[in-house]
Amino acid sequence: MASRYPAAWLDELRSRSDIVQVVSGYVGLKKSGRKYWGLCPFHGEKTASFSVDAEHQLYYCFGCKAGGNVINFIMEIERCSFQEAVELLAERAHIPMPEMQEDPEYELRRSRRLRLLDANRRAAQFYHETLFKPEGAAALAYLRRRGLSDGVIRKFGLGAAPDQWSALTDKLTSDGFTAEELVTAGLAVAGKNKNAAGETRYFDMFRNRAIFPIIDMYKNVIAFGGRSLGKQEPKYLNTSDTPVFNKRKGVYAANLLRQQRHLDHVILVEGYMDVVSLNQFGVEGVCATLGTALTAEQARLLRRFAPAVYLGYDGDSAGQHAILRGLEIMEQEGIPARVLDFPDGLDPDEFIRRDGLEGFRRLPAISPAVYRLRRLKEQHDLSTRDGKIGYSRAAAEIIRSLDPVERETCLRDLSVETGFSREILLEQMELNAGKENPVRESGIPKKSVSARRPGDSPAPPDTSAQETLLSLLATGQIPKDMISEKDFDDDELKSIYAGLISGKSPAALVDTAPDDETHSRYVRILLSPIADSTDQLISMANQCLARIRKSALQKRYDTLMSQIGALPPDDSSVPALLKEAQDVQAKLRLL
Ligand code: CTP
Ligand code: MN
Repeated sequence: MASRYPAAWLDELRSRSDIVQVVSGYVGLKKSGRKYWGLCPFHGEKTASFSVDAEHQLYYCFGCKAGGNVINFIMEIERCSFQEAVELLAERAHIPMPEMQEDPEYELRRSRRLRLLDANRRAAQFYHETLFKPEGAAALAYLRRRGLSDGVIRKFGLGAAPDQWSALTDKLTSDGFTAEELVTAGLAVAGKNKNAAGETRYFDMFRNRAIFPIIDMYKNVIAFGGRSLGKQEPKYLNTSDTPVFNKRKGVYAANLLRQQRHLDHVILVEGYMDVVSLNQFGVEGVCATLGTALTAEQARLLRRFAPAVYLGYDGDSAGQHAILRGLEIMEQEGIPARVLDFPDGLDPDEFIRRDGLEGFRRLPAISPAVYRLRRLKEQHDLSTRDGKIGYSRAAAEIIRSLDPVERETCLRDLSVETGFSREILLEQMELNAGKENPVRESGIPKKSVSARRPGDSPAPPDTSAQETLLSLLATGQIPKDMISEKDFDDDELKSIYAGLISGKSPAALVDTAPDDETHSRYVRILLSPIADSTDQLISMANQCLARIRKSALQKRYDTLMSQIGALPPDDSSVPALLKEAQDVQAKLRLL
């Protein structure tokens, strides 16, 4: 995260903004052991898995894996930018804002971004004004034909790209933007042929389309979707990724989501039209992905707006597939999800026009399990014996992972559908369970294992020893010379090590993570370890080091042996390799 605040000033800000005090302003915290615990404000939960680590000044939710330092917490809870969070904390701690640091490259990037956002904003304005001019009549007629009111058209800033080659390009060029800027923003394209004077000609990217501006939560216009007015392909033309737009990270209508406080769920749909249309009917909290499948980043973005997400994709088979995939992502991110299963292959827009707001509100938000069972059932012919058996077996697998109440309901339904008694179905569940983990503790069903994300599976022992070692080092109570860079084998771990050695605090270090994924890993690693004394910390470090060094030797030994195995026995390099292998083995024995 590039920042233009002096590092020392940020350190000061963090140290004067005690994370326990700041978080307590939003979340009731109780001290237990060395940490403070409370109900996570970022996802719905009934038992506290949200922790605040006063020693390392970090927070971390073991449920949804949200985590970071005090600035990150403010960004998440206030839904604001890094800069806004810093300003808020500075004001709270009565620290004057610093002189901004000169960072020419940062300034350049920033001013280029601002230019692109400015171009986008003017483009959105141009399209919106055009909608009510003769050049926009066709688009306006199209939107009205689709049932949109003037109110909702204004609310979403919908527009018209006229049926002309370069209306927008000409306008923005005369406003002082260069052709290169317009191409970078995705508003113009360079023509293949030069004009008579040998110059490249530029054309508007969007022509003869209804325009949906894509606006982020900070109200920046970051991109556009253009709907063709008839049968022309593609039906939707979208801005490709630009320096201010990444379609995998944002959602359509984020600007409106941010204004709607206290939503208890967000409804995620597939299309721009679905968002606009549901809005017109009075449904709150609706947004859409931007022409791609749901990503983990988008899921985490949604978590900032509401504690749960309802997936309301089209009722066709593509939509159903996307829902199953979307549910997996929600599960991996620890976000409670439900499904709006639109009947008759309808999309949300078509459905609400047919059945009205009443019909929409009556549509049950079903649980992931019930949705999966529904789709599973369609794959089996329940009029045949084999169909019933196959369905029961597969369904038992899904039902097994449910909480007791939902399990009971689903079991009852399944029994009615298949004719198998509840007892037989329970027995099937036991059988499935036995296959998966022979040793079962109590009767509590295990959560389905396949639903876990790869990052969650236990790291190889030496990696987890390396991670623990870093958390021990972060306490500042371990002699630094015990450990060296060679003890870490991936770049992220090496860079945390380097940061700690150079004197960075855990809370400062997490801001150096290059992306969200890494950020989360840094936080997890840097949480303070559980130990009562310095002696205990040091003895833990020694254990980690032994494990790391042992596994490094083991790897070296394996490599040597496979090198030797690949050589002819009389090869001249064999004796030296054998000697080294023997040495390594001797060291291993010593450990
Ligand atoms: N989409 C796209 N490119 C296409 C078709 C669709 O990017 N050629 C994206 C758009 O973001 C669109 C979404 O996928 O909003 C859903 O597409 P689809 O279901 O086909 O469209 P609808 O939302 O039903 O749009 P409409 O009602 O206007 O036909
Ligand atoms: Mn549609």
